[in-house]
Amino acid sequence: MVTARHAAAGAPRRPDWEQDVRIRTRPGRPDSGVKLYVTDRDAAGMREFMANTGFRRYPRLMATLVALLGQFPAEAQIRVLIVPLSVGLEAVSLAIAGLEAGLFQARSVTIEGFDISAKATALARSGVYPRLFFPDDLTAFAPALREADDGFVEVDASVMAHVRVLDPADVLTFAPGKPYDMVVCLNLLMHLPEKARPALVARLAELTAPGGILCLNNNQEWPDELVPHFAALTAPAAGFVSLHEALADAPGTGTTPAGPVPAFAVTDANAMILRRAGEGRSAFPSPPAHATHSAKPAGPTSPRR
Ligand SMILES: C[S@@+](CC[C@H](N)C(=O)[O-])C[C@H]1O[C@@H](n2cnc3c(N)ncnc32)[C@H](O)[C@@H]1O
Repeated sequence: MVTARHAAAGAPRRPDWEQDVRIRTRPGRPDSGVKLYVTDRDAAGMREFMANTGFRRYPRLMATLVALLGQFPAEAQIRVLIVPLSVGLEAVSLAIAGLEAGLFQARSVTIEGFDISAKATALARSGVYPRLFFPDDLTAFAPALREADDGFVEVDASVMAHVRVLDPADVLTFAPGKPYDMVVCLNLLMHLPEKARPALVARLAELTAPGGILCLNNNQEWPDELVPHFAALTAPAAGFVSLHEALADAPGTGTTPAGPVPAFAVTDANAMILRRAGEGRSAFPSPPAHATHSAKPAGPTSPRR
């Protein structure tokens, strides 16, 4: 539950954030975001989901994604999918990065997202968050973020207008009418049982349109665990090529990885960013012909946390 520490005493409460939410911070580990657990209660029973997230947790990744979106043809209707969405702060971060860069004036971009948790989905739709998710000084983000008088932060409608929170769904069975121009999947892989991971990666590949972008991390601290999935996606028949060499200004880390960082892992999320081959409508820089095979071997798997 959100404690009184996060809401001014005697101030109005936010029932959505008071019920079925547990929050824990990890002092000294700002790059790990905030530990957040949400509980779904429905006909299926009671399930708790680890929905850890943060506002602008990966600013370099967001800037890189915005730059890639800016390379689509001006007339394209660009659809981005963020999964898992958790409580929506990643979508809010991307929308604000896009607004700051003038992306929405130049391109038609819709940011869609979903999460398996109904509780997280409801919180994402509210666009209201406890103060602890944000930096102390919000003035740089006005008018996108507004400090409420009860210890919460409200996301302005001008930001939420670019974000579409879809109904709760399981990514492994999610079947949209058509694939997306950009698919962003952060901090899910490591939460799945090992044998379910190839199915997730295959599903994300299917959700990415020809010419589209797939951005996937494990989490920022254990990027070496991406190696087998990177190899599968960039195998000749799989049809993805890594953009890591074309994104020369987006090298990996920004955190303290617990193991080796493969050459393909870029930005502060240590994510792979791949382009799906095909006509599509992208105008992305073509990676050098050897890029797919140039990732350094990852070395042995790092010790688990
Ligand atoms: C650690 S959070 C990551 C959230 C967000 N991407 C971020 O990094 O800020 C993991 C989220 O995955 C969701 N999740 C777990 N399994 C899922 C599945 N099969 N389909 C969709 N979402 C799932 C959980 O509910 C939780 O909100």
